[in-house]
Amino acid sequence: MTTGYTRAILHRRLGFDYPHITHGEGCYLVDEGGKRYLDAAGGAAVACLGHGLSDAAEVVARTVRQFSYLHGSQFTTRELESYAENLIAVAPAGIAHVFFVCSGSEATETAVKLAYQHHQCLGHAGKRKVVYTNPGYHGSTLFAMSVTGKRSSQQKFAGLVTPSPEIPAPVCLRCPFRLTPDACRLECAAALEEAILREGPDTVLAFIVEPVLGASVGVCIPPARYLERVRAICRKHDVSLIFDEIMCGYGRTGKWFASEWWGVTPDIMTAGKGMGAGLVPLSGVFCTAEVLEVIRGRSGDFAHGFTFANNAMAAPVAQFVLDYMKRHALLSRVQEVGGYLMDRLHETLDGDEHVGEIRGLGLIIGCEVVRARQGQVPFERERAAAERIVQEAMKRGVNLYFSTAHADGVRGDAIVIAPPYILTEPEADTIVAVFAESLRAVTSGLE
Ligand SMILES: Cc1ncc(COP(=O)(O)O)c(C=O)c1O
Repeated sequence: MTTGYTRAILHRRLGFDYPHITHGEGCYLVDEGGKRYLDAAGGAAVACLGHGLSDAAEVVARTVRQFSYLHGSQFTTRELESYAENLIAVAPAGIAHVFFVCSGSEATETAVKLAYQHHQCLGHAGKRKVVYTNPGYHGSTLFAMSVTGKRSSQQKFAGLVTPSPEIPAPVCLRCPFRLTPDACRLECAAALEEAILREGPDTVLAFIVEPVLGASVGVCIPPARYLERVRAICRKHDVSLIFDEIMCGYGRTGKWFASEWWGVTPDIMTAGKGMGAGLVPLSGVFCTAEVLEVIRGRSGDFAHGFTFANNAMAAPVAQFVLDYMKRHALLSRVQEVGGYLMDRLHETLDGDEHVGEIRGLGLIIGCEVVRARQGQVPFERERAAAERIVQEAMKRGVNLYFSTAHADGVRGDAIVIAPPYILTEPEADTIVAVFAESLRAVTSGLE
């Protein structure tokens, strides 16, 4: 690892010795000392096509030669429009429109405002509360943070949080109702209806949930029929259902959008990260025809915008990402190599006393790290097990992602593996070998 960095940047991790990356190729990044890092996290599930895409550079160069910027309230381009149409063509049935923003947090804010304006237009004046799950993650802007089920993040900014109704997330490993799968009657979905009734249906605007939970819990697939149940509950009480697919969407699970695995269409959906593959900061807020038609008919315009909303500069390179994924059949590749990676992880780590669970879908995989498998006893937070495993892997040239605090709001360690969709089987083997070695190096010292 190379050392020394400028203090001019307010880095997120103060005092961390960041490697200085000079370039990348495929799934690898290379620092200025020549050390190679297998990017098993795609940063944060972003770089889905890997690094060093010279064909994309041509697309960016062509766009830059055409113009520098167009404001979304003044101009559009044919390329922006055809990209939106191509995106809607792969979106879940019933999704008809997309509004482009730059980040997942902006997408969350936009989704909530879209739901609010929709309900205001319908005369539902009192609907303003957004129900969310704990754990769950929807971003770091003020309202997105308010509906993010991560106590440790909210506590640091407690004075800025908008109090919102919280329900337990559908995390079977630590079932909030202490039920086994046989006894499960989807009490976690019933909790949504209870919350709506407790708050008053006239005050509840929306329910926001990740169809596959990501960073807040170290990946979690909801139990069968959970999404259908929450869909039905929202419909019954006139509550907008918002699926946050920022992390799990855009091919990450092996389908364009994770909700397709269950055939459930929300009213509003967000996606990001992989949409721009890291080449451009891009997220989208999607909605059904019904949502937009109500706004169009009663209000005229969507009263919301950002300088870089519906950014025409992003469209050509985002279209490149979409075409690349189709040309290389990356959805089926994600299922294939994701299955391979999952099998290797099980073969190597099942039976390890410190591996609580390995779970995932496609190339979004989480591994729960525990003090004791029996009872899923977490490590004390001061041990920083997840962070140390990531550091050990980094030393060995593999970039992983960690998640903490999901077990009880303070304790909980998980490692997230979310590599580029172009991952090869030998690269998957390297990830498993380095992860297992790093896990054992850390946990043996914590016993
Ligand atoms: C599910 C989910 N929603 C929202 C966000 C926020 O995205 P951003 O960091 O781009 O604002 C993230 C980021 O990790 C996420 O995983």
